[in-house]
Amino acid sequence: MAREPRLICASSALADSGRGVRFEVEYFGEPAPAFAVRYQGTAHGYLNRCAHVAMELDWQEGVFFDSDGRDLLCSTHGAAWAARASERRC
Ligand code: FES
Repeated sequence: MAREPRLICASSALADSGRGVRFEVEYFGEPAPAFAVRYQGTAHGYLNRCAHVAMELDWQEGVFFDSDGRDLLCSTHGAAWAARASERRC
């Protein structure tokens, strides 16, 4: 949880299953990339970090969803996560 609330982007900037908005957070005292996306009407924020290697997830800047707009993908090897939870699909 952030110490202070801050505006990341206008709500209208997040289209459902569309491009994400990248921003930076402090994570264990260090700056870390993060992103916000909207899925099924709800905005979600995540660290922009693969669980396997020190790589960001987006395969093009701000593109995190698969072509169906359902799962979030890792650009490095294509692992998919449900956008609403940390459930990994493959
Ligand atoms: S390299 Fe990103 S999930 Fe494995």
